Amino acid sequence: MEKKVYVKSYGCQMNVYDAQRMADVLAPEGWSQTASIEEADLVVLNTCHIREKAADKVYSELGRVRELKRERAAAGHETQVVVAGCVAQAEGGEILRRARDVDLVVGPQSYHRLPALLAEARRTPGVVDTDFPAETKFDALPAPSRDKTLARGVTAFLTVQEGCDKFCSFCVVPYTRGAEASRPAAAIVSEAERLASSGVRELTLLGQNVNAYHGAGPQGGDWGLARLLQRLAEVPGIERLRFTTSHPRDMDAELIAAHRDLPQLMPYLHLPVQSGSDAILDAMNRKHTRDDYFRLVDRIRRARPDIALSSDFIVGFPGESDADFADTMDLIAQVGFAASFSFKYSPRPGTPAADAERQLPESVKSERLAALQAALDRQAKAFNAATVGRTVDVLLEKPGRHPGQIAGKSPYLQAVHLDGDGAAVGDIVSVRITATGPNSLFGERADTPPHRATA
Ligand code: SAH
Ligand code: SF4
Ligand code: F3S
Repeated sequence: MEKKVYVKSYGCQMNVYDAQRMADVLAPEGWSQTASIEEADLVVLNTCHIREKAADKVYSELGRVRELKRERAAAGHETQVVVAGCVAQAEGGEILRRARDVDLVVGPQSYHRLPALLAEARRTPGVVDTDFPAETKFDALPAPSRDKTLARGVTAFLTVQEGCDKFCSFCVVPYTRGAEASRPAAAIVSEAERLASSGVRELTLLGQNVNAYHGAGPQGGDWGLARLLQRLAEVPGIERLRFTTSHPRDMDAELIAAHRDLPQLMPYLHLPVQSGSDAILDAMNRKHTRDDYFRLVDRIRRARPDIALSSDFIVGFPGESDADFADTMDLIAQVGFAASFSFKYSPRPGTPAADAERQLPESVKSERLAALQAALDRQAKAFNAATVGRTVDVLLEKPGRHPGQIAGKSPYLQAVHLDGDGAAVGDIVSVRITATGPNSLFGERADTPPHRATA
């Protein structure tokens, strides 16, 4: 009988990618994916531990899953419940104590063992596997199968690097994802080729520290991210390349030059700065100053003047004074961001900052977050408004909300809606932007016929 698996992912894009890889590992065992948790024989919560709220969500979801499991059992159906991802890695067996109906807790390094672990958990529920094996899971996971699992639209994520050695003092990632490891270039290129031949036009290379990439080159020696991007730009059918997330310290000259020289590399860079205060950056162990960041942004903008920058910010880090926060607001004003993510500092057990004195009250964090988000919002709106009247290439990704409409992304990662006029998903069309809405831009075709990619 066909068995159905439902995977719910929280957190970063790495988890979205991993969800697909888990499905790939399970497919040969007869598992097919379902979008409906009610009909799932296997429920996988692919969790995030980055902030307290993210971790809390898992336990409330587990409460709901427990109900579901009982209802299904009453109707004669068995349901296995798996907690995967970073909460699994960080909390391990503790999850079984807090949520007794969980059958298996599995960390991101052990996904290739899922079928065996599920079989074990069927015999004795309550299996925990959060080992960090010597080989990385890149080596152990099967290559994604082409026909079934890769019909994923025209954009795709591709993990090139995992883990992090930076140990920012607030962050759990080095503990949940382990040491930095890069995938060999040849494996990445062949995955890119498979994706391209199944219709993918845009690749986003993923890594917690993607610009620290240093994978084995096909002829020996190490490749940096710039070299890898150059090679991927040669893959027939791949029209657009992006990468995320970058650390300011690892933006080397080659990568900056790639933004100037590689037409496929989109003019958008997520370059988290976290804070604009030198004292806070130091306490965060970011190992760069605000001036380093300004200088870096200058170099990047000289290479690619129209580049859109985005960042992550944390407000209310322990010891953050009014003056420190003012420095962050000042940095924002000086740089100008096209988009951003911002968060209140959330103490994470096991990280150095969680034990720091001078934790700030919630009210201060909320106040600062509101001020920061208002400023970032104004910048995002101004950035979008500035594209009105311009003509940009749009990669069409899906049908729009209304008949005849089609939606895609600008080079600057803005969502754009337009009348399709015969263009199809996967085409790149030239679009004159006519208006901005709250979350997207509107435009009209400025070319006929569309430029059709050839794979
Ligand atoms: N590797 C990336 C992002 C890691 S997590 C980087 O180095 O930038 C994504 C974002 O979550 C971080 O950039 C940070 O802004 C936020 N974040 C991480 N830990 C946090 C914490 N303890 N409290 C609040 N925000 C946090
Ligand atoms: Fe976390 Fe810092 Fe590593 Fe990013 S660079 S994943 S914030 S430790
Ligand atoms: Fe969250 Fe783990 Fe990603 S903690 S942000 S799911 S690496």
